Amino acid sequence: MSLQLGDTAPDFTAETTEGKINFYDYLGDSWGILFSHPADFTPVCTTELGKTALLQKEFAKRNTKVLAVSVDPLNQHKGWTKDINETQNCDVAFPIIADEDKTVANLYGMIHPNASTTATVRSLFIIGPDKKIKLIILYPASTGRNFNEVLRVLDSLQLTSNYSVSTPADWNPGEDVIVGTSISTEDAKKKFPKGVREVKPYLRYTPQPNL
Ligand code: BEZ
Repeated sequence: MSLQLGDTAPDFTAETTEGKINFYDYLGDSWGILFSHPADFTPVCTTELGKTALLQKEFAKRNTKVLAVSVDPLNQHKGWTKDINETQNCDVAFPIIADEDKTVANLYGMIHPNASTTATVRSLFIIGPDKKIKLIILYPASTGRNFNEVLRVLDSLQLTSNYSVSTPADWNPGEDVIVGTSISTEDAKKKFPKGVREVKPYLRYTPQPNL
């Protein structure tokens, strides 16, 4: 049975480019992103790790720690990191796990044998401070992920975990959000002093509450 939303993220200890790391200790009370790559020294992966490095400040602003996984060995990760920094004009400052024995890949179901029996697919997990899995995305090796979308989901997850709201299709931070269906419109008007716009009894919008 593969991991699903709401499951507890499995803990592990692994060798990384930043030394031996215990996942839960590394995360502490932060949010976490654990994401896998098919292989070192490959073009799409190089751009993905570069983009993540360029967004490091954005992840930090969101109290989110990033941890990459690749089944290649540590010495390759170190050489590849130099290439990533050089070609993507960045400074990779997050750890990359050297998951040679595929412990992490297997724990998180990152190998999909009908895609490849040896390489991981592009899996990405967002893990909350409660260590529960909040998001899983899976992309094939040929398609690089959209890391601005990952930030957008983090913003939505962090907002909706603090307020009784959800975010509509294509929502971006600063735009109106949807009032939770469990709240009556009358109560919503008290709870959201910036106003409630009722389109249908089940579809009510309010300005983003934490701005
Ligand atoms: C890439 O990162 O470019 C890649 C890796 C494995 C298979 C295909 C593409």
